[in-house]
Amino acid sequence: MSKITTPIADFVKHYAADNISRLHMPAHKGNSLLGCEAFDITEINGADVLYSANGIIDESERNAAKLFGTAHTFYSTEGSTLAIKAMLALVKRNSKKKSKILAARNIHKAFIYACALLDFEVDWIYPDKPLHLCDCSLNPSELKRKLSSMSELPCALYVTSPTYLGEILDIKGLSEVCKEFGIYLLVDNAHGAYLAFERPSRHPIALGADMCCDSAHKTLPTLTGGAYLHISKSFTPFDKDDTRNMLSLFASTSPSYLTLQSLDLTNAYLANGFSEKLAAVEKKVDALKNELAALGFDSAGDESLKIVITRDSCSYSGIELASRLREHSVEPEYADLDALVLMISTETADVDFERIKSTFASIPARNASVACPPRILPCKQALSLREAIFSQSERINVKKAVGRICAAPSVSCPPAIPPIVSGELITAEAAELLLYYGIEEIDVIKL
Ligand SMILES: Cc1ncc(COP(=O)(O)O)c(C=O)c1O
Repeated sequence: MSKITTPIADFVKHYAADNISRLHMPAHKGNSLLGCEAFDITEINGADVLYSANGIIDESERNAAKLFGTAHTFYSTEGSTLAIKAMLALVKRNSKKKSKILAARNIHKAFIYACALLDFEVDWIYPDKPLHLCDCSLNPSELKRKLSSMSELPCALYVTSPTYLGEILDIKGLSEVCKEFGIYLLVDNAHGAYLAFERPSRHPIALGADMCCDSAHKTLPTLTGGAYLHISKSFTPFDKDDTRNMLSLFASTSPSYLTLQSLDLTNAYLANGFSEKLAAVEKKVDALKNELAALGFDSAGDESLKIVITRDSCSYSGIELASRLREHSVEPEYADLDALVLMISTETADVDFERIKSTFASIPARNASVACPPRILPCKQALSLREAIFSQSERINVKKAVGRICAAPSVSCPPAIPPIVSGELITAEAAELLLYYGIEEIDVIKL
């Protein structure tokens, strides 16, 4: 790999060292309350402008594009949440079938908001035998059947892979079907930035997706908010200015230069032996998973940087396992009744692996039968997503919400997957699902 430049971080480092009177935002003027203020600048002369970049930001993004093998990689300092909105806006602008999109139902709520803002109608694919809200398997032959049965083709297929619980879809197979039917493939790869550095790559862009978002902050050592919008060389309508316009449609005009520097430095981190570091940590995770399995705690999913333990495999709830881990100074990524999620990275230390192992070694194996969790079922769409989100609403108890129309996707993050979607009529089963995931109040359309 040729030497990767770090132009954003270099620029800010020099600026901070030059003792300049900062008569510009931010108001801390580089004085340190936290320790990072000297590096927190705004779009001053020479620092480029994120959504019309042609200087150091564009250079840094081109470095990222080389690393990820894309036509271009755009930075977001507002997470994948922003990249998802821009991705959908680009499809809307560049497809003749402007209003319908096909999506696997385990979407993050950012997708719902994007559809409402852009007035997309969604045709949902429901999971077959889900064990969790986060599941929605979809294989190429199921997709082919679905597309063949549709009277009007959608402009794109939108899937989440990897899922919160580490399930990875057959993106290559799905992309071949999408190409056959002439629709775009968009992937929420928020959890999978690192997949580009596995050998062979399991990143959606390498496997045929037209666009995807990656939250760099989730699996690479990037500050929170740092994310990518990747555009594939296969997305022929690609235009750099047009893409920047679609990002700026939803973005703040004050991007964080701390996050931009972090994305910039991440390029250097990725170019300097990251694949090898990743392979080494994946080996350690694999060994740990085998040790946990021998103790009665099998791991689920296809991801090599996630340890996912489900209740149906070990008879313990994720919440019980999380509280045992906290007693051993381990804070999990996520826990609910049915699953525990631990996220490892190339920065995870040996002591962290040891704590995980010693916690599970202290938990006696259990073998009780476990009831299946309730599942997401199709609900009647009484209003469009857009109408529902922009209508007057009121917050009521979920137990009184049966028969009412859902206004907002009432979910917290993580995993931010709405059990019921805006505009849908709330059934007794949907109310049961909401209560199962601890959601006791819901915003419904005002009568
Ligand atoms: C599957 C999925 N997509 C999108 C997002 C949004 O990502 P970000 O927090 O980077 O905006 C998340 C965040 O948790 C997520 O889990």
